[in-house]
Amino acid sequence: MDYITKIVKHHFDVVILGAGGAGLRAALAAVNTGASVAVISKVPPTRSHTVAAQGGINAALGNRSQDDWRWHMYDTVRGSDWLSDQDSVATMCANAAEAIRELEHMGVPFTRDENGLIYQRAYGGQSTEYGKGGIAYRACAAADRTGHAILHTLYQQSLRLQAQCFIEFIALDLVFDNEGACAGALALELETGSLHLFRSKQLIIASGGFGQIYAQTTASTICTGDGNAMILRAGFPLQDMEFIQFHPTGLYGAGVLITEGARGEGGFLINGLGERFMERYAPAYKDLASRDVISRAIMEEIRAGRGCGKHKDHVELSLSHLGADIINGKLPSIRDIAKTFAGIDVFHAPIPVTPSVHYTMGGIPASTSGQVLGKEDQPVQGLYVIGEAACNSVHGANRLGCNSLLDLMVFGKIAGEHAAETKDKPHATLNTATLDQALARFNQLHHSTGEFTPATLRREMQARMQNYAGIFREQIALQEGMSQLDILWQKLKNSLRVRDKNLAWNNDLIEALELDNLLHQAIATMASALYRTESRGAHYRSDYKKRDDANWLKHTLFTIKPDGTFTLSTRPVRSAGGDAPDFKPEMRNY
Ligand code: FUM
Repeated sequence: MDYITKIVKHHFDVVILGAGGAGLRAALAAVNTGASVAVISKVPPTRSHTVAAQGGINAALGNRSQDDWRWHMYDTVRGSDWLSDQDSVATMCANAAEAIRELEHMGVPFTRDENGLIYQRAYGGQSTEYGKGGIAYRACAAADRTGHAILHTLYQQSLRLQAQCFIEFIALDLVFDNEGACAGALALELETGSLHLFRSKQLIIASGGFGQIYAQTTASTICTGDGNAMILRAGFPLQDMEFIQFHPTGLYGAGVLITEGARGEGGFLINGLGERFMERYAPAYKDLASRDVISRAIMEEIRAGRGCGKHKDHVELSLSHLGADIINGKLPSIRDIAKTFAGIDVFHAPIPVTPSVHYTMGGIPASTSGQVLGKEDQPVQGLYVIGEAACNSVHGANRLGCNSLLDLMVFGKIAGEHAAETKDKPHATLNTATLDQALARFNQLHHSTGEFTPATLRREMQARMQNYAGIFREQIALQEGMSQLDILWQKLKNSLRVRDKNLAWNNDLIEALELDNLLHQAIATMASALYRTESRGAHYRSDYKKRDDANWLKHTLFTIKPDGTFTLSTRPVRSAGGDAPDFKPEMRNY
């Protein structure tokens, strides 16, 4: 109890965990209603992972050719391999044009076409006329720095509107009131090592994905899914954790993203024989098929001995034929990244690329307004989730490129407005047992004196995930992966060592906290991948090669207890409802 009196207490109407695109968009929406808003972020907001989004943000504006939000909806559902919740997809696609207009008015410097309209490029899996017309030009771009442009604009707006940012604070766990509603979060200020209790009337999780469970990833080191792990520790489920997106073009070696926009501008992939191999795998869409299809095709080429380089372990992306105007005007960052990280001059040589973990489709189940769905699909009061942490589920089994930024903007705004509705109510009384629990976990990690450092265990976990739950999966490997993760879980719980016992700027402790979060999600991913005995979207089982709608057109739910025992179950996919079209499952060809 002594400890608790040392905790710095804050009271806000809305508390948001995460200052990426989703968190900041929600903050603007809430603050605009007059609510007091706190945004808690591990890093300065402009370093949030949204900054890494390159190619664009989808909206059926029709600036370059005729378009319709329903065609966008169809493409999204098809891209998701019919696992998306179609009410959420309809909400996202119908609100896309307005989201872009709002960004434009806030000051996002979109690239312009010759008529002064927002420039739109082609992207994977995007069509017109429900897949029957040609390729759609739907991705609104700020050159190849779209996420950067959006994030900086949102942060500037949030400064103007005075949403209060708590920068370099890591949220540790959620706290609840006596009725089980979320009542805030406990956080650690990295610089001082002081503990802070943020009391909320509504809390919005916007803490991003968990790509860091893998070794080869475009996700930055901060992408540790902290909010997802808090949900598991609170006894609620995560959903669809087996669906991990491998982006076809991570830079070979470094893993840095090489935007799909490069193929949208006309770049193409070649194998070690110089062949444009995508013509064999996706005759209609070729290099603009969906990401799961292209990533598997690349791995097939490598497995067949047709990879590039000395080890034949990657393929190449050719851009030199595009010419200086397109490369300098539309892909300047790609030119720089290739030069800086691979020493390649894209005007003269192709870029070596390999599939890299890019996006986690699974996460915290949510309604279309962003409310967290807990036990038996019931909304958890006081708690919202948006962005990559959420599984509401617009992306289903595979996300289309440029739907991520859109997801952040549309559902960020909706959740921010909803959350602010209770701003005039008082804060509920805290159930102090939930704070004690959060403190106990923190203390246990901080004082751990075992044998293994967090960095060692994190590397081991990443290697296991890469080996046993990669692009191609099958039962025996997944079972072996489960046993290996169980060993790591025991090491984490019983033999972790945090060497630094100070609290101020204790990177060792932060890594331990993040490792705990990651390992929860690695187990969820491996277990869910073993559970789902079919192939759908990004989840490919070599021992169950077909999609099985009769048994598996449903979401996976995973929960875990403190002792590591877990349960798996399912819940149905939601249909569109209202006036929106409802798309029945079809064969998925590109
Ligand atoms: O390839 C890219 O530019 C990534 C975009 C996205 O994931 O939405």
